[in-house]
Amino acid sequence: MKTIRKAVIPAAGLGTRFLPVTKAIPKEMLPIVDKPTIQYIVEEAVQSGIHDIYIVIGDNKRSIQHHFDKNIEFEIYLKERNKQDLVSLIENVSSLATIHYIVQEQALGLGHAIWCARDAIGDEPFAVLLGDMVIDSQVPCLQQLIEIYNEKQSSVIAVQRVKWSETSKYGIVRGKQVNKQLTLVSGLIEKPIAAPPSNIAIIGRYILDPKIFDFLEEMRLGVGGEIQLTDALQGLIGEQPIWAYQYEGKLYDVGDKLGFLQANVELALKHDHLKENFKLFLHKSIESTEKD
Ligand code: UTP
Repeated sequence: MKTIRKAVIPAAGLGTRFLPVTKAIPKEMLPIVDKPTIQYIVEEAVQSGIHDIYIVIGDNKRSIQHHFDKNIEFEIYLKERNKQDLVSLIENVSSLATIHYIVQEQALGLGHAIWCARDAIGDEPFAVLLGDMVIDSQVPCLQQLIEIYNEKQSSVIAVQRVKWSETSKYGIVRGKQVNKQLTLVSGLIEKPIAAPPSNIAIIGRYILDPKIFDFLEEMRLGVGGEIQLTDALQGLIGEQPIWAYQYEGKLYDVGDKLGFLQANVELALKHDHLKENFKLFLHKSIESTEKD
């Protein structure tokens, strides 16, 4: 039985939906409450049992690397001031996992970012977690996918039903639903502008067979002038089954301004030290804006 040992986190996109902030700061470094987005993603992989993580970064994304590197000087500074709790906080970040970095020199699309990791992954199935999609769930979304992979020994992608009016923002799946959560995929289409085959949307967590690299190798630019993972998956369907799994959890697209704000509000309302005061603040601020 094959197991999932490695994860790729593409984080080299240009983040045009979040300009102007993404002019100099990768969206994956924007904080949700008190941690950068990318840390939530790495933690999800680690909690799902994966410790070998490959982050695909762009040329100007060294801040991601700095975040996970050890910062000895800062640790010494905090130790000298007896701030042991803060030392642990930053030590934990640098010891989360074994993180490797792969540079995607040009942002040619998600499919291309994953293809850049081909040598690092080799000939084994692997996980992909998009760097700008945060999922709040009891069981980490990736772990849910790994459980399906272990049963099926075949590629699995996480999906959720979205409003029909929003299908043009996602990759959309067509297929035969075999139970409440599982669909055997027969086709995929990236951001359909008309007549979407369903409202089952791909949300950014995948377990992929390494055969996907053969299809990515041959890919040309697709929708939006980018090399699309969805197009390569469409090729893979011809050779092996792909399962779509309706995961349990709440998704935040933090590469989008509204999604980013929603994530901050809802996760702050769950934060042990902030929730009470933040709830009070929200009530008061809603009251005062209603008066205006
Ligand atoms: P998105 O399509 O959301 O990222 O890619 P984007 O292109 O940066 O965003 P907009 O649409 O311009 O605002 C999903 C994930 O894939 C990564 C992104 O960093 C994001 O985490 N990605 C995308 C790459 O690593 N390389 C690419 O060429 C494109």
